[in-house]
Amino acid sequence: MKTNPEKFGVTPHQPSLWTRADALKVRADDPTTTQPLVRADFPVLNNDVFIWDTMPLRDLDGNVTSVDGWSVIFTLTADRHPNDPQYLDEDGNYDILRDWNDRHGRAKMYYWFSRTGKNWEFGGRVMAEGVSPTAREWAGTPILLNDRGEVDLYYTAVTPGATIVKVRGRVVTTEHGVSMVGFEKVKPLFEADGNMYQTEAQNAFWGFRDPWPFRDPKDGKLYMLFEGNVAGERGSHKVGEAEIGDVPPGYEDVGNSRYQTACVGIAVARDADGDDWEMLPPLLTAVGVNDQTERPHFVFQDGKYYLFTISHTFTYADGVTGPDGVYGFVADSLFGPYVPLNGSGLVLGNPSSQPFQTYSHYVMPNGLVTSFIDSVPTDETGTQIRVGGTEAPTVGMKIKGLQTFVVAEYDYGYIPPMLDVTLK
Ligand code: FRU
Repeated sequence: MKTNPEKFGVTPHQPSLWTRADALKVRADDPTTTQPLVRADFPVLNNDVFIWDTMPLRDLDGNVTSVDGWSVIFTLTADRHPNDPQYLDEDGNYDILRDWNDRHGRAKMYYWFSRTGKNWEFGGRVMAEGVSPTAREWAGTPILLNDRGEVDLYYTAVTPGATIVKVRGRVVTTEHGVSMVGFEKVKPLFEADGNMYQTEAQNAFWGFRDPWPFRDPKDGKLYMLFEGNVAGERGSHKVGEAEIGDVPPGYEDVGNSRYQTACVGIAVARDADGDDWEMLPPLLTAVGVNDQTERPHFVFQDGKYYLFTISHTFTYADGVTGPDGVYGFVADSLFGPYVPLNGSGLVLGNPSSQPFQTYSHYVMPNGLVTSFIDSVPTDETGTQIRVGGTEAPTVGMKIKGLQTFVVAEYDYGYIPPMLDVTLK
């Protein structure tokens, strides 16, 4: 695929680099960038399903939006199988960890609603069985388009392949609750191209997913962020001076870090409705640093672009490490250059005593950060765990210039609206 960004009035740009030198500054357990301990006696939203990635309904400017006083979230969701022989161990007990670890293969998009921005009521599946073209419905973004309640759900259709898609429906409210209607026709938008973004043929472990459409507050155009890997055959990437950055003597050895090639992708819409997209070069690359920059999203604040993305300990490259959590970068204009927040990029990580307590953090423009509970240790040694599959306590964060600070903790799954839209 050939790109000519200038055609759409977009200035060509160089990706910003998250370097190994930046990542060497990551400090786990810094209290200003560490999520408070999640207690093992957390409440569970719903005992029939696991939920993980949480996607609040929002507008194209990023504002979390309620409709007729109802807050709405979408979640990746999978049934729990406490009685399925497949998930019983040799003693006949439910192996919840195995069930939880298998959830990605059967992920479906569900929705929930609430009058209070918490204690979410179960809505149901967004698309009927058979509507989505692939086995997995992976993360994306529900956008409230107007006061008629029209919603564009952008998400990732996975297995076979990985395609960024969208489906249009409508949110309908009554005094008693919320329902989703429509969501019947899925439109494929684009896939990795192999020139800018790595394809499955180039790397069986490629990532291409998690669309986050937005209107640029400065130029007013419609764009979309997504997760990708830098194009090229697996193992062919170079971790050179630029990717290494300014490191102390003895830190030049990059080991096998050429296998870690994450990037934050961006596309621009050719039309007003977001049905026709042109991929642009990545905004940010992490070659030699990390293999996954998932669910990228923005907070637009003080005329700056705060770019957030989630990542894992296990996806870091040789010689660098950091906690599971959300990382951030800031720029004065959409196409950068981006610099890592807090020097390292780490914004909110799990404490090292509970390294898997939460994941899939989503930073909202009001500074609140939602995430889900993965697993929390129930004994001193950390060998016994309790699996979550439910909403974590929301964290309050202040974003100030090049730094962020944890300042508050709120209730489980607290996602208050920033705007209310009265439907016509
Ligand atoms: C983040 C994530 C997303 C993906 C989904 C799959 O938790 O890995 O990148 O869309 O979960 O379950």
